[in-house]
Amino acid sequence: MTKRWWHDKVAYQIYPKSFYDSNGDGIGDLGGVLSKLDYLKDLGIDIIWLSPIYQSPFVDQGYDISDYYKIAECFGTMEEFDTLLAEAKKRNMYIIMDLVVNHCSSEHKWFKEALKNPKGEYRDYFYFVKGKNGQPPSNYRSYFGGSVWEPVKGEKDLYYLHMFSKEQPDLNWENPKVREQIYRMINWWLNKGLAGFRIDAIMNIKKDLEFKSFEPDGEDGLASCTKMVEAVSGIGDFLEEMKAVTFEPKDAFTVGEVFNMKKEELEDFIGEEGHFSTMFDFSAHLLTLGEHGWYDAKPIDFKEWRQTIISSQLEAEGIGFKANIIENHDEPRGVSTFLPDYAQNDDGKKMLATVSLLLRGIPFLFQGQEIGMTNCRHNDINEYDDINTIDQYHLALDAGLTKEQALKVCYTHSRDNGRTPMQWSATKHAGFSTGTPWLPVNPNYFSINVEKQENQPNSVLNYYKELIALRKFPAYKELFVYGSFVPAFTEYDYIFAYFRTLKHTDAKILVAANFGQESETLELVELQPEKVLLMNTGFEKEIFEEADKDGCITLHSCEAVVIVVTDY
Ligand code: GLC
Ligand code: CA
Repeated sequence: MTKRWWHDKVAYQIYPKSFYDSNGDGIGDLGGVLSKLDYLKDLGIDIIWLSPIYQSPFVDQGYDISDYYKIAECFGTMEEFDTLLAEAKKRNMYIIMDLVVNHCSSEHKWFKEALKNPKGEYRDYFYFVKGKNGQPPSNYRSYFGGSVWEPVKGEKDLYYLHMFSKEQPDLNWENPKVREQIYRMINWWLNKGLAGFRIDAIMNIKKDLEFKSFEPDGEDGLASCTKMVEAVSGIGDFLEEMKAVTFEPKDAFTVGEVFNMKKEELEDFIGEEGHFSTMFDFSAHLLTLGEHGWYDAKPIDFKEWRQTIISSQLEAEGIGFKANIIENHDEPRGVSTFLPDYAQNDDGKKMLATVSLLLRGIPFLFQGQEIGMTNCRHNDINEYDDINTIDQYHLALDAGLTKEQALKVCYTHSRDNGRTPMQWSATKHAGFSTGTPWLPVNPNYFSINVEKQENQPNSVLNYYKELIALRKFPAYKELFVYGSFVPAFTEYDYIFAYFRTLKHTDAKILVAANFGQESETLELVELQPEKVLLMNTGFEKEIFEEADKDGCITLHSCEAVVIVVTDY
């Protein structure tokens, strides 16, 4: 495998609106990011992904861009952005931004022009399509509910396409002028010194221009628009063109938000010559979704979750790297989702961090993950901001759930769980802002916050620091980055364990964690323990002595260990 600059990096996603507010208006901003760079450096972060900071009406929290060349006023100025780039560079850190080019905002001048002038060139920047038999062109359901087709006011039987909200019209990638505009914009940002992009909703850019309807899959008589995404082919041509004229010449890092990919295309996406540097591994997240919505989702089954991660890891072996996450701004908090009730504590959080960060791939942390932030409970749907949550709440009510049950669904699944303000301290509003935060802070900030954890040697935060430092420790870095992933002890019901091994060397590291409620003893058959590198409960010495004496290790509930071993 050819080595690339980003292979050994650890990334961190900032959701700017909720990260840190530097001017007291209740909204996180670039000044806030700037003032926390040293915090991130100290944590061991190399790459920072900023969720959208472009000018936007914020119908979908900045994922609806009205000017790709401007910074939203609430976040600050272009000068501040340039300072951020420069300050990051000084610290050997890289900034990547969100690239949202499946759609723009209905407030973007292209769309406003398109509406105004049916004969003008901007019409063809979008999909304006005639209806069929007095109906919209197809029966696709948008990601946020309702039809993907919005009638165009004042024009009979004409619709425009939006896979997300109606304020996010889809851009017509078939039009070479649109692609040219997009590439120009990408290069403009890369020329500023940006290290790359996280590429939003990218699988949606390829449409089946026939817009064939599918068998309805819900009470609304519609079919998920993902059916079209899965059926259509040819996206690779767009992605290769974009890469050739933008990312490749700049050696930029790209991470794709890829859903609904055809399995056999993994190499095309993240192989050595792939469309992207890497793509997120959403396989665990997909387990949390129901057939019809959040309301009919099943709770996580440990064995299924473990097997899903194992399969996903093995699939990438010899092909490329996936970007590993436990949460992001579209998902509830990982600790609230993947840990059983009895493991919802610091040991459990550290255990989840251990098995996740040492996987093969590029780790992406989401803000607050490093202190173990959790889901946030609300008593009324009005306390939620997220467009997706509001849709899913009503979907749950329509399916017959009570108000309380529907709110519980939001508590376990809402995207706002990841969007509550970062908990910096135990002072008012969690030290996030001196004003009133745009979204209420999670009331548990008193016990879960950065300041407190910085002062506690055995906090979740300090454990994350150790874990990241371990990944980068010169003696093991090669193995953690380029080593294989080999699942282990899968015959145990509640053990998540794997080896990381490096070809042509004796090096072998065992990562093992007990997600069960009872202790488990693992036999290190034909393996000699050399050294315990890390343990979430602090019993490194004891476990080493045990392993050395009788070749066994006993892991208590929620215990995780990282051990160097050699073959006998
Ligand atoms: C991606 C973003 C999500 C947004 C959607 C539409 O999935 O992560 O937050 O709502 O795209 O842009
Ligand atoms: Ca602010």
